[in-house]
Amino acid sequence: MKAILLAGGKGTRLRPLTVHTPKPIVPIFNRAFLYYQIDQLRQIPEIDEVILSLNYQPRRIEDVFGDGADIGLKIRYVVEPMPLGTAGAVRYAGESLSDSVLVFNGDVLTQVDLAAVLRLHRERRARATIVLTPVENPTAYGLVETDKEGNVRRFLEKPSADEITCNTINAGIYVLEPDTFDRIPQGTAWSIERSYFPSLVERGEPFVAHVGRGYWIDIGTPAKYRQVHHDIMDGRFVAPPFETGDRGAACVSPEARIDAGVEIAGPCFIDAGTVVKAGAKVLPYSVLGRQCHVEEGAIVEGAIVWANGRIGREAHVRQAILGRQCHIGRSAAVGDGVVLGDKSVVTDYSSL
Ligand code: GDD
Ligand code: MG
Repeated sequence: MKAILLAGGKGTRLRPLTVHTPKPIVPIFNRAFLYYQIDQLRQIPEIDEVILSLNYQPRRIEDVFGDGADIGLKIRYVVEPMPLGTAGAVRYAGESLSDSVLVFNGDVLTQVDLAAVLRLHRERRARATIVLTPVENPTAYGLVETDKEGNVRRFLEKPSADEITCNTINAGIYVLEPDTFDRIPQGTAWSIERSYFPSLVERGEPFVAHVGRGYWIDIGTPAKYRQVHHDIMDGRFVAPPFETGDRGAACVSPEARIDAGVEIAGPCFIDAGTVVKAGAKVLPYSVLGRQCHVEEGAIVEGAIVWANGRIGREAHVRQAILGRQCHIGRSAAVGDGVVLGDKSVVTDYSSL
């Protein structure tokens, strides 16, 4: 069985982080996001190949995963000549397939029982099976109405507030039958949410839903990107590097250098090669990537700092996200909700 991961979007809502790092490989702690999805795919031993459907900065993604040897799964890259939308991408990537295919949006992290989803698909002889998750506000997602037997009755992408009729949304995980792909036009952008799924409903084809009650998040905005780190640190989603679900732990690489007189309060993460100097504080929910420098007396408080960041003396970085190689000057203050692209510089004594 093959799995297609839709990893071609531009990640506009995560800009500026995604200017040089496509969303599927933004780091979660010290691993590219797609590693977490690939971990989920291991639930289905039948999956022998992962097809990465790419468009935006494909080479950067290929450089991370190579031929898949180090993850023990064959990886195939399919690069679209132009953005084909979510349905166009599935058709393009799935051109040679004849068996049921598992499809994932490349930005969702979830604790779903994939074997149960596949079983349901087969038992119901469905043309498509979709995973749903309940959310408080469906407006940012695809609203999916079902009947008592779990048949999908309506699919409405990005409903307005007055169109909300239920709380179940598309979790971005599907099992599809490739012989339904011929309705997707070739060579033009086509949406799985706005065209393909509604077409299944209109034609009355067997289209069923599995409602997942486990953890689910779409990491596509800065707030959600921070949230997923919190959830892993708190053990709400159990994953590396907090595999034990060890609440409150400070996870510090043995290859980090923490000087005497540093305060470290978990949960937090400090990666290899990072140096934290005397009098500095790394407070709960902070994440410091590889080779960062936190100078004397600096405070990192719930911020996410990608590799090679430098936080100057007495600077205070609070709840921000800093791309690679950012430089925060001495006594500078960077506050809540700030998101800085790679190589940003905040000069000494500035506040942001
Ligand atoms: N290859 C390829 N080509 N991939 C694409 C393209 C494209 O043209 N456009 C988007 N993608 C990928 C994105 O990289 C992402 O992984 C996935 O398709 C979904 O796109 P998003 O842009 O993240 O969509 P969304 O979050 O607004 O909505 C989607 O996900 C929600 C769940 O998180 C929809 O599927 C909603 O129905 C759903 O509820
Ligand atoms: Mg998304």
